[in-house]
Amino acid sequence: MKAIQAIRGMKDIPPAETPVWRELEDAARAVLSGYGYRELRPPVVERTELFRRSVGEATDIVEKEMYTFDDRSGESLSLRPECTASCVRAAVEHGWLRGRGQRLWHIGPMFRYERPQKGRYRQFHQLDVEALGFPGPDVDAELILIGERLWRRLRLGALRLELNSLGSRAIQDAFRARLVEYLTRHASSLDEDSRRRLDTNPLRILDSKNPDMQDLLGAAPRIVDCLDDESREHFEGLQAMLEASGVAFSVNPRLVRGLDYYTRTVFEWVTDELGAQGAVCGGGRYDGLVADIGGPPTPATGFAVGLERVVALMQARQGAASDERPHAYLLAVGEEAQRTAHSLAEQLRDALPRVRLVVDAGPGNFKRKMKNADRSEAPLALILGEDEARENRITLKEMHGDGGQQSVERSQMVEILRGHIGSDD
Ligand code: HAM
Repeated sequence: MKAIQAIRGMKDIPPAETPVWRELEDAARAVLSGYGYRELRPPVVERTELFRRSVGEATDIVEKEMYTFDDRSGESLSLRPECTASCVRAAVEHGWLRGRGQRLWHIGPMFRYERPQKGRYRQFHQLDVEALGFPGPDVDAELILIGERLWRRLRLGALRLELNSLGSRAIQDAFRARLVEYLTRHASSLDEDSRRRLDTNPLRILDSKNPDMQDLLGAAPRIVDCLDDESREHFEGLQAMLEASGVAFSVNPRLVRGLDYYTRTVFEWVTDELGAQGAVCGGGRYDGLVADIGGPPTPATGFAVGLERVVALMQARQGAASDERPHAYLLAVGEEAQRTAHSLAEQLRDALPRVRLVVDAGPGNFKRKMKNADRSEAPLALILGEDEARENRITLKEMHGDGGQQSVERSQMVEILRGHIGSDD
């Protein structure tokens, strides 16, 4: 029978990789709690309408990348393609925005029907961080400092921070008209994708990586030159705070982002180390979104880290993630020994709560069980044979080095094992 495989673009994270994922998740939790952010766990399925209203009808995400289906009652639902909309929906629904700000985060899977390639998947994971109810550039700066702290904690170098301001919605409308006018004049130099976007989402054309269009886009009008006074002050305020905190950044006037809800600040951390999918984290301010979703007018800002991409950087950096190999592998040979193996292992786990001890399971003779011990990569085998079981002893065998072995009293086991665990315990 043909074996069933995972869905294209949705991959298993195998046990060999989960330690580095956990290191990333633990670091994120620790950093975020240090800034007073609290975890929210929204559902992964929402009403399709939520994403239409937030991410935007004319975006690639809503137009062609959502996993949308009717449930049994005929309601249109979608797997979430991102998490900002859910955080805002939850905050509005539960009345969390009345008279106070909310600092929230979430880690979980997102779903986009994109063309899978290295660094781009159909199920991927984000760390999403949102600050709702704060109008000033100070909280934009706070978010960027959180990102910087996370990269430092993970020992990731070579991430560049790019900033831009998209101004208010009124400015975006006026700028869009100017941009469309400019691009229409040069329509013959536009590629097919950009010509399509000219009608639907012209700002995104600025983001094009097509080398043939770089001259044209380099000379295009820039939104930073069209900002209203308040947006300019906001943007300058943010830059001054980042400079005062020693954060390096560059202003990229063509940074526009792929979701429609942004106003004013937008930012991305990018790297050259991951090939085409170089955006590791993106975000910005979305002052109109809470009202668009039916909540009270509330300024808000946030970002999301693409975890697969950060994991790829972590795997490439110096220094391995935490070691998950067992400290010891216990194998019992003979009926009596097998009967007592689990109770001995439980005693060891009681005495050494952090010990990683694997007990051999399944049939097999001594040779087979030693092979299992070898495969487990544990540096130490604890052998419980007929003689040992009778005499209340146990044989310890070093699995690496000279392979030396010694027989000890069971009462000595805890101390010996503690020595092997060393600084782990
Ligand atoms: P985004 O730029 O669409 O923003 O996604 C954020 C990050 O998620 C990207 O920089 C990238 O690292 C990762 N990512 C996106 N799509 C994929 C994919 N198909 N495969 C792997 N990684 C991917 C948002 O989603 C906004 N909700 C961010 C935000 C939060 N803005 C304000 N608050």
